[in-house]
Amino acid sequence: MYVLVNAAMSVDGKLSTVRREQVAISGSEDFRRVDALRADVDAVMVGIGTVLADDPSLTVDEPVAHQPTRIVVDSRARTPPTARILDDAAPTVVVTTTDAQQARVEQLQSAPSTTVLSAGTDRVDLVKALDRLADTGVDRLLVEGGGELIFSLFAAELVDELSVYVGNVLLGGDHAPTLADGAGFTAPETAPRLELIDVSEIDDGVLLTWAVSEVEP
Ligand SMILES: NC(=O)c1ccc[n+]([C@@H]2O[C@H](COP(=O)([O-])OP(=O)(O)OC[C@H]3O[C@@H](n4cnc5c(N)ncnc54)[C@H](OP(=O)(O)O)[C@@H]3O)[C@@H](O)[C@H]2O)c1
Repeated sequence: MYVLVNAAMSVDGKLSTVRREQVAISGSEDFRRVDALRADVDAVMVGIGTVLADDPSLTVDEPVAHQPTRIVVDSRARTPPTARILDDAAPTVVVTTTDAQQARVEQLQSAPSTTVLSAGTDRVDLVKALDRLADTGVDRLLVEGGGELIFSLFAAELVDELSVYVGNVLLGGDHAPTLADGAGFTAPETAPRLELIDVSEIDDGVLLTWAVSEVEP
């Protein structure tokens, strides 16, 4: 499976403000680019933090033959039944764990076009989850955040490519989400090294495209 991470961050690396509300970091040209990216993948994934903060629909706006499958990484099945990601505009998979309350799982399963997949016990095991998604035919996966999920995917060495739009706004804040949050890489030698493959100006910012190299042993 090819895993592409895409996000928009402020000049100081924040995905949002300290209030964790959705912020317009890019503009219309970048929205069209992301729409085309979605149209080109089998599935689009976000963490439950992003669903709770932004309530995204994750569908392709332009008319397409098939909408990509929407995937939420949600250990405790906290996705609200009213979340836009559960509407019938596209198929959705909620990836949860064996610890999730059965009643919540059943409620999610009753949403139109939604299936629930279990991977892990207390927290979603991303290696298992991506293996299971590959078994269902997901060859190209686009991950659209947030910072906690992005960090875990890098930590599990599951990311092939990162495209990050750097917008012309400075958000600041010790606790504002950044491109990669989680526990962080404490030993620099274990931190992933990226190879810059493209730089382009879009709207009032810049799009950086990076390939993820193998970490040297
Ligand atoms: N600018 C952008 O491009 C962009 C894109 C997306 C989001 N955002 C912003 O980012 C913020 C949300 O990001 P976030 O970091 O709080 O949330 P997130 O990464 O979307 O979701 C994190 C949650 O996913 C669940 N999860 C389950 N298994 C996991 C695993 N193995 N590794 C990591 N997470 C796992 C955890 O909750 P459970 O333990 O309950 O499962 C965790 O708290 C919001 O402010 C949103 O506006 C910005």
